Amino acid sequence: MMNWWENDFLKVKNQKLYLDEKEATEVAEEYGTPLFVYSKRQILSNLKRLLQVFTDKTSLELKIYYAMKANPSPGILKILGENGTYIDAVSPGEVDMALHVGFPRKKILYTGTSVSLEDLHQIFKQEGTIVNIDAEEQLELMKETRDRWFKNKKILVSIRWNPGIGIGFSPKTVTAGIKSGSGMPVKFGVEEKRVIPVFQEAISCGFVPIGLHQHLGSGWIRKDFEKVKCAVDKIIQMALKVEKEGFSLEFLDFGGGFGPKYYLDQEIFPIKEYAEYICRKIEESGLQIKTIAVEPGRYLVGDAGILLVKVEYLKKNYGNIFACVNAGTFNSVPRPAIYAEANHHIINCSEVNSEKKAKITVAGNLCETGDVFGKEIEMPLPKRGDILAVLCAGAYCRSMASNFNLRDIPEEIII
Ligand SMILES: Cc1ncc(COP(=O)(O)O)c(C=O)c1O
Repeated sequence: MMNWWENDFLKVKNQKLYLDEKEATEVAEEYGTPLFVYSKRQILSNLKRLLQVFTDKTSLELKIYYAMKANPSPGILKILGENGTYIDAVSPGEVDMALHVGFPRKKILYTGTSVSLEDLHQIFKQEGTIVNIDAEEQLELMKETRDRWFKNKKILVSIRWNPGIGIGFSPKTVTAGIKSGSGMPVKFGVEEKRVIPVFQEAISCGFVPIGLHQHLGSGWIRKDFEKVKCAVDKIIQMALKVEKEGFSLEFLDFGGGFGPKYYLDQEIFPIKEYAEYICRKIEESGLQIKTIAVEPGRYLVGDAGILLVKVEYLKKNYGNIFACVNAGTFNSVPRPAIYAEANHHIINCSEVNSEKKAKITVAGNLCETGDVFGKEIEMPLPKRGDILAVLCAGAYCRSMASNFNLRDIPEEIII
């Protein structure tokens, strides 16, 4: 029987983990550890599946804006670019990287927060890049930037509204609503009653609004679907209102949020039903838009990446057993250290399905108790030199890693 995490990238043969066709321990030997390994095949199969669920249901154009904050590895960007995706960028640095690997300016949507004149100056240089307006107050800076340096330039914009509903696997990744689960005020988007005035102001400032955008948050699971449907209904209602006020919309952008399976009993978000719902609701609404956009990050790359680490020794204290590995979470897979809710499955590459299991805490090499890749997980007792694979490390891992303790961020390869 297949393990729940096996896919086009990860396979098990004779108890050993294979990465595509190659044994994981051989890859570790050849390139050294710690090492990120990404799979082109898995990225492409995620992309194909996502395209399929929408194109099966609508004749509207679908634009997939890859949220490159999930993983801006140039190799991954190239794979996605060559296969038709667009880019969701959140900083001038991300825009520059996307251009550098060959994305045309017109395929980039810039969605900033707390944007500065300097940010806008860099973005406006890229004629054709669509600028997502996150705040009414951002318009003032946009107008100033345009009037100072880019007079008469046509600048396409969309409006990021906050539909009052936010959903994420952690309160820290909820990006809509008034306050997130932890009581944190949510900084994103334009509130409902200001959406039409912002369209009006954008036009009177000389910008060209062509889209309406929302992003509810990141890391949805099955039980979030009802709430997501409400938010789909809300953006469609808002788009109808925008059209009724005389503004014409080319696209509706539903943001990202859906993701891969991180742990065994996680019920994944139903993307097929989601796509069906969006397409049906748009059709029924009579909206005049030509394009639907989505902005997946973790869905495309999350389960297409792993981190290989080496066990330096097994440590026992007060009944705890630690597999002490040669990487730090903050420098490689920081999600478990940042989010209490994050969970990465970990396997021993040379003894994947062994029956002999113990409760192991996989600890990193940083000076922090929270530097733990997995807490008391059931796995075969590792020994010195064993290679462990931290799964689902393709999204929000290397891109969020730091040099804490002056440790290096691991290298990455794509196979
Ligand atoms: C505006 C925007 N779009 C898309 C995404 C991608 O989210 P995910 O990786 O969960 O699909 C994010 C992530 O925070 C975001 O802020």
